[in-house]
Amino acid sequence: MTATIIDGKAHAASLRAAIAGHVPAFRAATGRAPGLAVVLVGEDPASAVYVRSKGRATREAGMESVEHRLPADTDTATLLALVADLNADPAIDGILVQLPLPRQVDAQAVLLAIDPDKDVDGFHPVNAGRLATGMPGFVPCTPLGCVMLLKSVHGSLSGLDAVVIGRSNIVGKPMAQLLIAESCTVTVAHSRTRDLPARIRAADIVVAAVGIPALVKGDWIKPGATVIDVGINRTETGLVGDVDFAEAMAVAGAITPVPGGVGPMTIACLLRNTYVSACRREG
Ligand code: GUN
Repeated sequence: MTATIIDGKAHAASLRAAIAGHVPAFRAATGRAPGLAVVLVGEDPASAVYVRSKGRATREAGMESVEHRLPADTDTATLLALVADLNADPAIDGILVQLPLPRQVDAQAVLLAIDPDKDVDGFHPVNAGRLATGMPGFVPCTPLGCVMLLKSVHGSLSGLDAVVIGRSNIVGKPMAQLLIAESCTVTVAHSRTRDLPARIRAADIVVAAVGIPALVKGDWIKPGATVIDVGINRTETGLVGDVDFAEAMAVAGAITPVPGGVGPMTIACLLRNTYVSACRREG
């Protein structure tokens, strides 16, 4: 069997086009465009690339992008003051503080300071709680994009067995919550999990989000399973996911490539969350 490649780029392009299509009516009704503020501290090259792509995509969707670039030695108080300004700014619907933050910054304090109703990253504990309890809020962009890709393959996910590899606040935990909400039976695996291959072999859906290059081997995968690879690992041979792509292609039913799978969906979902925030705030 050869797996179908899930074209995240194409799915993301159609989501972005749909959002861009809604923006003119929002502008006409409110006299303004939805606004996203992105805060970047320091010069981490990967973060700088992400922030540039987010800004470009925001503008291409007809929305306002405001970028705040702060020096690497910025302290927590300065960031908290900026977040307070952005919380109070009526032109800003979404606030994203790019992670990781430098060591001297209290990242938890900064994330807690963001108004949960402008938290388009969905990282604030209020939004994590809303997701866990089925209340409307903001869902982190990467797992949201993964669910959209899974639904493009399966339609309904109800009753399917899913394994999420990784338990981060940004991907693993919200991914598990979303899959539970879709009525999957969910296993969350991590570095202490015993017999990871056996757990993965039992799954109809595998979401790999651990940051270990090519961890998941082809013979760990149930024939026909859908594999979502969230990993973006920079190696000597280029970008590699958490799944051994060549091996998995021969066994899986459908698989996301790296790059061109989950990554583009993350940005498209950020635009979606920003547009949704703007609509909610305009009531
Ligand atoms: N760093 C890596 N991914 C993300 C993300 O989705 N949001 C933010 N704020 N920082 C990140």
